[in-house]
Amino acid sequence: MKILVTGGCGYIGSHTCVELLDAGYEVVIVDNLSNSKKDVVKKIEKITGKEVTFYEKDVCDKKALEKIFEEQKIDAVIHFAGFKAVGESVNKPLMYYRNNLDSTLTLLEVMSKHNCKKIVFSSSATVYGNPEKLPITEDFPLHTTNPYGSTKLMIEMILNDLYISDKDWSIAILRYFNPIGAHKSGLIGENPNGIPNNLMPYIVKVANKELKELSIFGNDYNTKDGTGVRDYIHVVDLAKGHIKAIEKVIKDKGVDTYNLGTGNGYSVLEIVNTFKKVNGVDVPYKIVERRKGDIDACYASTEKANRLLNWKAELEIDEMCKDSYNFVKHNK
Ligand code: NAD
Ligand code: UD1
Repeated sequence: MKILVTGGCGYIGSHTCVELLDAGYEVVIVDNLSNSKKDVVKKIEKITGKEVTFYEKDVCDKKALEKIFEEQKIDAVIHFAGFKAVGESVNKPLMYYRNNLDSTLTLLEVMSKHNCKKIVFSSSATVYGNPEKLPITEDFPLHTTNPYGSTKLMIEMILNDLYISDKDWSIAILRYFNPIGAHKSGLIGENPNGIPNNLMPYIVKVANKELKELSIFGNDYNTKDGTGVRDYIHVVDLAKGHIKAIEKVIKDKGVDTYNLGTGNGYSVLEIVNTFKKVNGVDVPYKIVERRKGDIDACYASTEKANRLLNWKAELEIDEMCKDSYNFVKHNK
């Protein structure tokens, strides 16, 4: 079975390529390297001892995509390619709508033409907005608060409409919670340019003395210790969820949506303290104002993914903190 992975050089895509190769799939990556580096391909090959076919192309480029489908007999697609920074999407909405929607529409048109109708799509827990209760199940009302989130919700709608129009499609929509951690080898992981927006990449840079201190955004939330609570999931567990999803779309037709999280909520302070303990490093912090748009708490019900995909996250928060730091130590 040959899987086309769009955005396969990125953070989640690269870990998923490793799991696909380990599970015996052939992997073709298409990535324009707008947020990743080409050497990731070599690193995936080093970890797995297997070869990857790589196309440095933009998924919005229909001609290039057509050529890939002509050259390769693609059985199914995992679609990661897209922009993902919430703050940037607020400032550059057109860039986000253009890239995330255009890449998806182009991909779906080319897949349709080549009668390849099996796709796994990267959505996000951001589509739940500020949930009224917890844990979050897949049937909760959907609401977005920024252009990035809106692109995810629009693509979910496009995929649902596509299935209504043509029952030959097999579609899995995966709503990720908060992926952190890295592959044990330390070869692949998350390495954002500039000052990180998200918690773990920021903590790691503080521990590494690249940044002075962490700003904790508020300690007056309605949570166990007042700091925000999220469902952090190890990226390797998340990648394994994609293998289960690809098995499902290869086997069954239909469109379905699954939360990929652990079902556990950890506060910012719990993450900071765990990180310090397992890595034996200091992470100085100060409490500052809340970040606009942040919510108290967010964690998944994982019951549907357990039941229908036979998938469950296995790695604990200690492992997530250890592996996040290990990657950075390897890539100083
Ligand atoms: P990433 O930026 O590390 O990876 C995305 C990859 O897609 C990059 O390698 C980038 O170069 C590539 N890309 C972007 N636009 C492209 C285009 N038009 N053509 C070809 N390649 C293109 O991001 P990630 O964290 O690995 O996220 C993967 C997917 O999961 C994204 O769709 C993201 O929105 C979604 N997601 C991520 C998170 C998260 O916290 N990381 C959470 C929820 C959902
Ligand atoms: C982010 C995304 C969201 C995406 C989700 C999962 C933003 C604004 N939102 O949400 O769209 O679905 O990841 O990938 O990027 N925190 C600090 N100090 C920091 C950074 C974060 O205290 O420097 C706190 C936040 O207030 C929050 C928690 O840490 O309580 C997690 O923040 P972050 O890693 O940015 O993720 P989310 O806000 O959950």
